[in-house]
Amino acid sequence: MTERTRVAIVGAGPAGLVLSHLLAEAGIDSIVVDARGREEIEHTIRAGILEQGTVEVLDGIPGSRARTVGQRHDGIELRFAEPGGEAQGHRIDFADLVGRGVWLYPQHEVLRDLIAARLAAGQDLRFGATVTEVTGVDSARPTVRGARADGTPFEIVADFVVGADGSRSVVRPSVTGDSRSGGYFREYPFAWFGILCEAPPSSEELIYSNAADGFALISQRSETVQRMYFQCDPDTDPNALDDAEIWERLQARVPGTRLAEGPIFQRDVLRFRSFVSHELRRGRAALVGDAAHTVPPTGAKGMNLAIADVLLLADALRRLLLEDDPRGVDGYAEAASQRIWKAQHFSWWMTSMLHVAPDASDFDRRRQIGELRSVVESEAGRRYLAEAYTGWPLRAAV
Ligand code: PHB
Repeated sequence: MTERTRVAIVGAGPAGLVLSHLLAEAGIDSIVVDARGREEIEHTIRAGILEQGTVEVLDGIPGSRARTVGQRHDGIELRFAEPGGEAQGHRIDFADLVGRGVWLYPQHEVLRDLIAARLAAGQDLRFGATVTEVTGVDSARPTVRGARADGTPFEIVADFVVGADGSRSVVRPSVTGDSRSGGYFREYPFAWFGILCEAPPSSEELIYSNAADGFALISQRSETVQRMYFQCDPDTDPNALDDAEIWERLQARVPGTRLAEGPIFQRDVLRFRSFVSHELRRGRAALVGDAAHTVPPTGAKGMNLAIADVLLLADALRRLLLEDDPRGVDGYAEAASQRIWKAQHFSWWMTSMLHVAPDASDFDRRRQIGELRSVVESEAGRRYLAEAYTGWPLRAAV
């Protein structure tokens, strides 16, 4: 059976769900499909930092708990030592430098709020629906085909198709015309070993630590659960280390702080990739979020960049579908790219400044400490970091 909607959104992550909300507010109906089940979406552990602008967007969605349950952070700490010296923490005071902050509120909680809100609003939201084909993006009737959870085929004819379906996007090839990666790509020679543990917080704010044998990030989840990461080889098997070895690595990488230890109940290895799709829009299809780009997690930009894309695209679609004005859609790729490449740079810069490359020479290490000093000892340096981390102003496409 062929179904009809105005916007077919592939992917029920933050990008797809926020887009369906913004379109509904404008009176534009959409169908959201996702190959995953609701349980899986609501339980996948992802990062947790929301820019102030992202929280403001979520505030507009009924039932969002980002501002109330999430914790506001007005700064982060960068920690490093001169070679052979004692490590010192340097606070980047966001409130003082840019008058803005960020919220620590995990992505799966954002997703629980969004799914509940969209279902309550009567959104057509389908889990377990796998897309196999997107056709007709160069026509006025792009079409999404696939199979529902029970195997029955579906076909959705739309005015516009949006790929919000993550880094392994099935919509992307119809936009780039390339079944391979179709993008600018960079891989890094390290990854993060991430844990969730039952313990009280070890620090009030996040600590980004550059230690002689590698990076560590001390983050949080709640009064009783903490999230921490340490730099590791990308081929590390998450089950190869026992709890004692993990704590030993973490402790060694935040010299000067005694981490509160506790049972580790989740561990994962996150590979680092920077990717931007060569094309973000073709005809009546566009990409948003991780389908369009991925960033390494050091700059905490992933979900925020997805929301920034969606604000641009929602406005562009409103103009196209309600006013028959194609300029927003025509300008989408260029407008989105500007922020995407700033975020790519920031994420790459934080990553390269804070991690120790496996082949780093003494020159490289000393230069890196010089770079960190240049940032923390200069108000302009600290302000750049604060501006980027808390998020550049959000704007609509021209
Ligand atoms: C996290 O809490 O998972 C987190 C925080 C900051 C980052 C990355 C991850 O830069």
